[in-house]
Amino acid sequence: MATKILVTGGTGYIGSHTVVELQNAGYEVVIIDNLSNSNIEVLDGIEAITGRRPDFVKGDVTDMGTLRKLFEEHADIKGIINFAASKAVGESVQKPLLYYRNNLVSLLNLLELMPEFGVKGIVFSSSCTVYGEPDVNPIDETAPYKPATSPYGNTKQISEEIITDFVHAGAPVKSVILRYFNPVGAHPSALIGELPNGVPNNLVPYLTQTAAGIRKELTVFGNDYDTPDGSCVRDFIDVVDLAKAHVTAMHRMLENDSTDPVEIFNIGTGRGLSVLELIDSFQRATGVKVPYKIGARREGDIEKIWAEPTKANTVLGWKAEVPVDDTMRNAWAWQCRLAEKK
Ligand code: UD1
Repeated sequence: MATKILVTGGTGYIGSHTVVELQNAGYEVVIIDNLSNSNIEVLDGIEAITGRRPDFVKGDVTDMGTLRKLFEEHADIKGIINFAASKAVGESVQKPLLYYRNNLVSLLNLLELMPEFGVKGIVFSSSCTVYGEPDVNPIDETAPYKPATSPYGNTKQISEEIITDFVHAGAPVKSVILRYFNPVGAHPSALIGELPNGVPNNLVPYLTQTAAGIRKELTVFGNDYDTPDGSCVRDFIDVVDLAKAHVTAMHRMLENDSTDPVEIFNIGTGRGLSVLELIDSFQRATGVKVPYKIGARREGDIEKIWAEPTKANTVLGWKAEVPVDDTMRNAWAWQCRLAEKK
């Protein structure tokens, strides 16, 4: 019988791509999502790609009653991947309590119910934001936390600590914490992708919307940084590669391969690319020009950060594979598909 996995936030951007990879790998998936930042039609996309529609519960992970009922109805859930969280850095500064509630209460609820329902492991979505501005690049998992610059970033640090404290207190659960760098792109089928709400904050959705003529021009936030071309440097990781890291992590926990009950992995390519280089890649890969201008630095931005992914490559056995030009082509195909649907 297929192993059943609960994916919270499974209709969201990274969640939906992970559900596809889980189903492709033979797992059975139950999604819980409150659809606050996603659309029920995502299930059609997942079904079209994999030939299988995952079970879906519309509900909020911060609601213990809903969650308990879900575990009673699906008593055979063996693992959890927790994507249900708010992720807009700027909004978190405006609405800190919303972020602390959504991101922390949901995690507490899941952890509390895991032993009772015999759930063995949880994969947690963390972020390279825990490192702040790195002293050295590439940065590895042993680097200490830097003070968080937003409530969003703080929830990631606190969540990692909650999981670690709980497991070290002897709870019969395991966890793999994945620190994502900058997830970008879309499924190559263009059937699922990112659905930003309103004006995008993140670079790639803003870029593809500009290329599509929805936005007049892209602003590059600063070209006077201490980097080769002056723009910020990031580690852009393809969303399908990232999704596959979750499948590998789940397998590792459930098959008892993990050496430590809590393991932390950087999920990145190991290559830093500047904002201007990414725009170049997009133009080269798609043949579409993106009007852009250089603007002021954005407050709170990190100058440069990219991953040392060797631990994920060797211990987890996962490696980023998709070339960035392909990622940009996929992001563009998804943007075109969104335009067709309107
Ligand atoms: C932010 C968060 C990260 C979170 C990620 C996903 C921080 C420090 N970073 O990453 O934790 O996981 O969002 O939501 O909290 N840029 C432009 N023009 C634009 C938009 C962006 O030049 O219109 C530049 C930014 O200045 C930055 C780069 O593109 O240098 C990437 O920005 P963005 O996509 O917003 O991601 P991060 O800020 O790196």
